[in-house]
Amino acid sequence: MVLEGAVLFLMLLLTLLAFIFVSLWFVSIVGSGAPFVPVPAQSVPGIVDALELKSGSVVYDMGCGDGRILRSALEKVPNIRAVGIEKAFLPYALAKWKLRGTSAELTHGDFFKTDLRDATHVVLYLLPSLMEKIEKKLQAELRPDAVVLAIDFSFKDKTPLRVIEQTVPGLRRGKDLRIYNFS
Ligand SMILES: C[S@@+](CC[C@H](N)C(=O)[O-])C[C@H]1O[C@@H](n2cnc3c(N)ncnc32)[C@H](O)[C@@H]1O
Repeated sequence: MVLEGAVLFLMLLLTLLAFIFVSLWFVSIVGSGAPFVPVPAQSVPGIVDALELKSGSVVYDMGCGDGRILRSALEKVPNIRAVGIEKAFLPYALAKWKLRGTSAELTHGDFFKTDLRDATHVVLYLLPSLMEKIEKKLQAELRPDAVVLAIDFSFKDKTPLRVIEQTVPGLRRGKDLRIYNFS
């Protein structure tokens, strides 16, 4: 009898935890202008290569999701400043966990409130509506030589300096990389 009660309690607890997890996931998907849809793992090395980071680079991932790009960047070039800003709680918590023990700087907040003047590199994987909104901020704050890497979505009226198409077989997202400057 006691055992049955304990099992029932455990099942109820697990159901509650699953409900909380799904709710947080749902809020992170519908609650921001760009849902938490991380780039596929196979696309990450090509993204990091395209950034051409050097020792001392300061890279911002605007809406860093679970932090996979920053993690890979730090693995490739350890002596960088890797900064991630993430609005939704669940991906932020995942990023905190995945980047534990690294020098990554993570903020749970709105990237429109982040000062980008020290950025040498900015990564964007955002829907067109947010790309349009963030363009003014980049223009106002970025130093002229800062590298902006836009994944899959482009700026409407801006010509990229370079376009890279990743050739990983079967890759459907995280494939088209565009490099911009805001000089
Ligand atoms: C498509 S995901 C990209 C995640 C990650 N950069 C990657 O490539 O794997 C976009 C992320 O931006 C976050 N986001 C959207 N608007 C934001 C804002 N104003 N400030 C901070 N994060 C935001 C979303 O919560 C979501 O996790």
